[in-house]
Amino acid sequence: MFELFFATGNKHKILEINEILKESGLDIKLVPIRGNKIEIQAETLEEIVSYALKQLKKKGVNYVIVEDAGLFINYFKGFPGPYSHYVYKKIGNKGILKLMDGIKDRSAYFKSVIGLIINGNFKLFSGVAKGKIANEIRGRYGFGFDPIFIPEGYSKTFGELQVSMKNRLSHRGKSARKLAEYLRHFFV
Ligand code: IMP
Repeated sequence: MFELFFATGNKHKILEINEILKESGLDIKLVPIRGNKIEIQAETLEEIVSYALKQLKKKGVNYVIVEDAGLFINYFKGFPGPYSHYVYKKIGNKGILKLMDGIKDRSAYFKSVIGLIINGNFKLFSGVAKGKIANEIRGRYGFGFDPIFIPEGYSKTFGELQVSMKNRLSHRGKSARKLAEYLRHFFV
């Protein structure tokens, strides 16, 4: 079994991506390592991920992935987007619902960008899940904004879906499947 480092402290992300790798028939195990203490603040997830990859390469880490994701609310022109971590920490789901109070356009999307270093090369894989902000907090699965995000065509929030179902619809499910497809060239 090949061990691929994953620079993250988020066990939900590890679970979600591990499941995709397993489903894809890849004999790869994700091994968590500490990410950068300092994450740059940038306008795009791609910039944040590319910066993290550069830092990891400088440290001499080979065969590693990093992932950055965010919730983009259309009415707020994509806010919180790349600032999702800070906004979640400060105001949480309750705060987002309060900001959305009385707003008709509740459309939003999640985006995930996975960065990979393999054989010294950088690759990025992205995935988007469209949906809307719920009117209330629902569900106990997942993490972060999952309990207030309803994926397009569904009535349940991500917070009400188990990992395998969230993976079928989610931004991370999509970026991770692209990663798995790419890794297939190396390992199959
Ligand atoms: P991170 O910087 O990629 O860890 O993500 C920033 C913030 O976005 C996190 O603190 C979460 O609150 C939120 N987030 C990222 N991915 C997800 C997800 O899949 N579901 C719900 N919230 C997420």
